[in-house]
Amino acid sequence: MVEIRLVEKSDLENLQEFWNRNVVNDPITVPLLEEKFQGDPDYTPKLNLVAVDNSRIVSFMQGIVRELPPEKRGWIKMFATDVHYRRQGLATQLFEQIENEMRRQGVSRIGMLDSAPNYLQPGIDPFYTEAVAFVERHGFRRCGDTSNLKADLKKLNLDTQAEELEALKRGITIRRAVESDRPQVTAFLARYFLAWIYEVSNMFQNNPISLHLAFMGDKLVAFSGHNGNNFNTGWFGPMGTNPHKRGLGIGGILLKRCLNDTKLAGFEYSIIPWVGPIPFYMHYADAHVCRVFWRYEKRLLK
Ligand SMILES: CC(C)(COP(=O)(O)OP(=O)(O)OC[C@H]1O[C@@H](n2cnc3c(N)ncnc32)[C@H](O)[C@@H]1OP(=O)(O)O)[C@@H](O)C(=O)NCCC(=O)NCCS
Repeated sequence: MVEIRLVEKSDLENLQEFWNRNVVNDPITVPLLEEKFQGDPDYTPKLNLVAVDNSRIVSFMQGIVRELPPEKRGWIKMFATDVHYRRQGLATQLFEQIENEMRRQGVSRIGMLDSAPNYLQPGIDPFYTEAVAFVERHGFRRCGDTSNLKADLKKLNLDTQAEELEALKRGITIRRAVESDRPQVTAFLARYFLAWIYEVSNMFQNNPISLHLAFMGDKLVAFSGHNGNNFNTGWFGPMGTNPHKRGLGIGGILLKRCLNDTKLAGFEYSIIPWVGPIPFYMHYADAHVCRVFWRYEKRLLK
């Protein structure tokens, strides 16, 4: 008989095997799965459910709730049902339990997968057509789309020395972040890019710190980082330049520095997710769209 229960820590290896068998375009590792559970600052055990048949995982759904004043928002971050157990209402049962808990917590709306700062993908890839049918059946409305780009690191010249010398002549210094930059970086993000504080704070845990900064005098004007979400997959971003300092070529240099780190770490490709200004990434990194995602939302409160 199929039983629904909370995910336990000891499930992770089975969950990884289950996931990779059923969500074929998004294979995951156990460390990456751990990042999606305990690695999420808002991880709540009771929003992580599995359906189990004879101790075999046959369906899984992960929810997350984030306080984003003045709202409390919820997301379904990952979900799947074993191919042999589909269309039996299992994902529906898991979803209803999570949705009820989110309503109880006063969540205003539920998103699908795009649960920044910790997410696997920024929406539903319509390749998973059953997932499209599922979310539309459950009252989600499509509210946009986004894409991931892929940069082929083997083909790129990522040497920024000459550009950095030119920038220096214009009073712009570019370097890797050091621990003592944290307060200034946090203040800069709080002012211009509040949503990215968490991902960037993860970059300070990496060795070397996976964050590059641009200064005019001693004032921070731009940043670019990588490996702050989906660790060790070649995941780029976020990056941002002070709105008054754009168009000076700073972003291009910062982007290349990050891609170079990724290349030196042994990756052939970097994923530039949830884009954003496609022409910018095409121009500096010959990046091309590799995945398209549909974004969905369900309002719980009017
Ligand atoms: C999407 C998925 C989780 C649905 O799981 P499930 O347990 O089969 O879902 P349910 O049985 O609860 O389906 C509920 C409703 O969704 C819709 N639906 C689900 N699969 C469908 C299909 N193959 N064709 C048409 N409608 C479908 C139907 O409206 C269904 O209700 P109904 O059977 O009463 O008509 C499953 O197909 C899956 O694991 N897909 C691959 C992984 C994936 O896409 N994950 C999400 C992105 S990472």
